[in-house]
Amino acid sequence: MSETQNRNINQLIDIHSHILPQVDNGSVSMEQTKNMLKIAYEEGITYIIATPHYSVGCRNADKEELYNKLKAVRAEAEKINENFTIDIGNEVYYSEDIIEHLRKEKALTLAGTRYVLVKFAETDPYETIKTGIHRLLIYGYYPILAHVEKYDCLYNNYEDIYNLIHLGCYMQMNISSLNKITDKKTAFCINLIKYDLVHIISTDSHSDYNRAPRMLEGLNRIRKKCGEQVINQLFIENTRRLIHNERI
Ligand SMILES: [Fe+2]
Repeated sequence: MSETQNRNINQLIDIHSHILPQVDNGSVSMEQTKNMLKIAYEEGITYIIATPHYSVGCRNADKEELYNKLKAVRAEAEKINENFTIDIGNEVYYSEDIIEHLRKEKALTLAGTRYVLVKFAETDPYETIKTGIHRLLIYGYYPILAHVEKYDCLYNNYEDIYNLIHLGCYMQMNISSLNKITDKKTAFCINLIKYDLVHIISTDSHSDYNRAPRMLEGLNRIRKKCGEQVINQLFIENTRRLIHNERI
């Protein structure tokens, strides 16, 4: 990559990451978390929102444990660069009770904003997703649908994705979904970006090897297919707005 290409993408914000050690199926140790931090920083990521899974009725990391781990990971990030920021939220699994858990701050919004990273079962029907998104909106949250490309009911279904956006939902895509050149899903993902049906692209990283926090390969693919303006919108503008609790 040339110097010019690198210039404006060295402050990437990753809002979906399982980088905290031993709290979910993400990083298995502090050693792995440290490697993930190194990889992320080398990829130009300087702000990460750690988003451990939160599911009502399952064993979720205790708040104190979560904040202690956050503190330890922040200290490691600072060793790499004092401006390397780690914040916290949850990737919440939707259920009717999740609203109450968010209101009581048992489940966390993204970095204290009104944005909620929400996932559903990949086989859930469209109506279930629509109802869940609608309920989050009614209670004043800004829902972001985690990895929009993964749901069976939304695959190649541009109309319903548009309908959810029209309702007030934001769409997050995993950068790794763009890295399989011949995969049909990659073509779908590129179309979503071209049709302006994606707001945020993140790593959803889980480890330092096969689900590592890498951005640049996918980012360059988007740049080639969609141009620099799209890169600025997706990777700079929208994430900046999010962390400042402004509407995308
Ligand atoms: Fe995730």
